[in-house]
Amino acid sequence: MTGTARPTTPRRFGTAPPPADLDPAERFSADELAAVQLERLRSTLRRAYDNVEAYRRRFDEAGVHPDDCRSLADLAAFPFTTKRDLRDNYPFGMFAVPSEQVRRLHASSGTTGKPTVVGYTDHDLQVWAQVVARSIRAAGGRPGHKVHVSYGYGLFTGGLGAHYGAERLGCTVIPASGGMTARQVQVIQDLRPDIIMVTPSYMLTLVDEFERQGIDPRSTSLRIGIFGAEPWTEGMRAEIEERLDIDAVDIYGLSEVMGPGVAMECVETKDGPHIWEDHFYPEIIDPITGEVLPEGAEGELVFTSLTKQAMPIIRYRTRDLTRLLPGTARPMRRMDRITGRSDDMIVLRGVNVYPTQIEELVLRTDGMSPHFQLVLSREGRMDRMAVRVEARADCPGVRREPAAAELTRAIKDAVGVTAEVTVVDPDTLERSVGKLRRIVDRRDR
Ligand code: DLL
Repeated sequence: MTGTARPTTPRRFGTAPPPADLDPAERFSADELAAVQLERLRSTLRRAYDNVEAYRRRFDEAGVHPDDCRSLADLAAFPFTTKRDLRDNYPFGMFAVPSEQVRRLHASSGTTGKPTVVGYTDHDLQVWAQVVARSIRAAGGRPGHKVHVSYGYGLFTGGLGAHYGAERLGCTVIPASGGMTARQVQVIQDLRPDIIMVTPSYMLTLVDEFERQGIDPRSTSLRIGIFGAEPWTEGMRAEIEERLDIDAVDIYGLSEVMGPGVAMECVETKDGPHIWEDHFYPEIIDPITGEVLPEGAEGELVFTSLTKQAMPIIRYRTRDLTRLLPGTARPMRRMDRITGRSDDMIVLRGVNVYPTQIEELVLRTDGMSPHFQLVLSREGRMDRMAVRVEARADCPGVRREPAAAELTRAIKDAVGVTAEVTVVDPDTLERSVGKLRRIVDRRDR
């Protein structure tokens, strides 16, 4: 489990907002929150049932009706929604409003088959901007800060989601989008942003580019980094904070539920994202049986939207594995770092392996950089995993073999599988320009 090592790195620059600046919902007591959630949940179930044929059919088949939901726990009787449901109803079959009321569309590319399309009414866009503004404030952002957005703009929700949230908070947005790495460095040098919003893997690409241009990454104007859209670890947080001299905080979200800003880590505690539960209701289920697990147990995260109009989503199976934790910096519950996605899981000779487990170990090995790749192959019926990891630029060739042996041992001890580790030259593995894919799968299917 990658998220258990607490407390994490200390705060450097970001500060807690004065309580008076918080949204009223951020200060709700447990009872106030539960009352709002139940009322919103009941109206969401009704909206879905009355306006979306696919929900009506599924509820009827399961023998449940929106009126059966009298407490939050009653939600467990309602059927799940999966990516497959969104694909089967592509493009607009899950929408609950007439098309004239849809103000924006986004889509997630998906690795196979059709993409999934999501839609937003005016009100949905307002809510989204508000939760992202709340998220940036939790990270230490304030009106007047300059925010450099390197999440991709376009059908991906990252760029525009971050953009409107930063504007809503009263920040100045620099809409850099992803790519053109050399130019991003120049823009950061010239426009002097306080905050960067980007995937952690692309942040590393940017750090390398600073160094290539002879600029000390610690000398930039950046003070806070808001990282998400892909799994990352405490080891990666320490690496990024040290190399850039910033606070690195975790933002979580997914298009089907909204986009970035479903949950956000507070800079004063850095202990996992608080779920903005006044808009998104979380459950943790056993991924095999679908049963709701008790508070604190690890399983698959499931979300029900509480205020969405264009595309209400009921019990959406995220495939993300985590657990729910009590509130700290805010009363709302937190989620632990995502261990991995169930579809990112490598099953190697019967053992489940997640790229984040390897990331933790790579970052703990002297001489190894955070750039690595997992290459899967098959010999006969035997699956093999090779780990190709770049040496740090200051690690001479002679120390690579012991480093590789050390990592092989650490993987065997911690994960229970034998991996073939090769330490390669700095700057030889593919770099991220957005979401990174760590796994190269060469097994014949
Ligand atoms: O990645 C939305 C987003 C944009 C979140 C920018 C944060 C920042 P999708 O493309 O639909 O949406 O991908 C959603 O990405 O189910 C997780 O598997 C993964 N993911 C997102 N944030 C995190 C995070 C955006 N903080 C999928 N940690 C989710 C780990 C994350 N995984």
